[in-house]
Amino acid sequence: MNRRDVLKAGAVTGALAVVGISASSCAEETAVTTSAESITVTDIPIGGGVIVSEPPVVLTQPTAGDVKAFTSICPHQGCKVSEVSNNEIYCPCHGSKFSALDGSVIQGPATEGLAAAAVAVDGTKVSFG
Ligand code: FES
Repeated sequence: MNRRDVLKAGAVTGALAVVGISASSCAEETAVTTSAESITVTDIPIGGGVIVSEPPVVLTQPTAGDVKAFTSICPHQGCKVSEVSNNEIYCPCHGSKFSALDGSVIQGPATEGLAAAAVAVDGTKVSFG
């Protein structure tokens, strides 16, 4: 099953307003698109990520407890990234891929990586922007 074939709403609870979910057979490859006031560490799949609508940020958790944040705006032509799996952040417009560890370019046409965004973890609560 293609992960883009699976769209659901409501898998993230609490204060999250889920816009859509793209999931594959592996939980760590799940990417979530959401608008949220607060996100907890457990909302971010390990090896995957959460794409926040506003502010435009993608949160990743390459390894358990190691949360990263980057702008979700692709530096190539400004599309929003759409998916995080296997520690790669994917832009749907022209296929660029970025590292979920540091935002660097894995595959072009983008020549610049995703800029880091501020992120802080207090217990399980993730603050970003
Ligand atoms: S806008 Fe992202 S690859 Fe072109």
